Amino acid sequence: MQVEILDSFQAVGRRAADVMGHTIRAKSTAVLGLASGMTAVATYNALVDDYQAGRVDFRGVTTFNLDEYVSLSKTDPHSFAAYMHRNFFRWVNISPDRIHIPQGYCANWDRACADYDQKIDQAGGIDVQLLGIGRNGHVGFNEPNTPWDWGTHVTALADQTRRDNARDFEGNLDEVPSHAITMGIKTILHARQLVLLAVGAHKAEIIAKALTGPVTSKVPASIVQIHQNALVLLDPLAAAHLK
Ligand code: GLP
Repeated sequence: MQVEILDSFQAVGRRAADVMGHTIRAKSTAVLGLASGMTAVATYNALVDDYQAGRVDFRGVTTFNLDEYVSLSKTDPHSFAAYMHRNFFRWVNISPDRIHIPQGYCANWDRACADYDQKIDQAGGIDVQLLGIGRNGHVGFNEPNTPWDWGTHVTALADQTRRDNARDFEGNLDEVPSHAITMGIKTILHARQLVLLAVGAHKAEIIAKALTGPVTSKVPASIVQIHQNALVLLDPLAAAHLK
């Protein structure tokens, strides 16, 4: 695990975009694992800048998003599909048929989850997986105590996660879905590189636990300690509790 403390939210996004750009320049058919959430916005802004400046070409790139709320359609502005379109996909030349986001609506969840993992395998696995971190240590929507041998699955959201994410639903907790579909820890650990981002003082306590505490399913983000190629990018506020 490599940890870098950068000056600001924008600097974290720039560094994450540089890592992804480097991967794409080395392999034009790179497979990117993508995250949603406020933290990742600076990464997408930097990647869009890189595309517009001709520094990166997404034509051959395939993407797999980590997660989606159950019961939200991709046209719902609160869905992660809408977030991805708004913040990233509409601004770059990724081919729509190479974009994968778990579906929030489904007739057969078991099949949809197995299909998602199979598609990742068929694409050759994920080269770089971007991760945010929830205040309870979740990655994707793998809440504390999720078994690490699970692939993509449907999960109930923790109360804290729903309260935190209510800000994306105009503060209306009742509107936050109770469940989500997420890549599992097994799926995430298979990625060839992990890039975990955290900014802000509200992430300082969980970052200290995830990076320096026990490696445990109680803190899903502690997987960065055991992955063979994990990069953690922090701003000074998120790094404040690290010794
Ligand atoms: C959300 C998402 C995660 C995200 C994390 C942090 O609930 N499921 O994929 O990375 O929590 O979000 P934020 O960056 O907004 O703090």
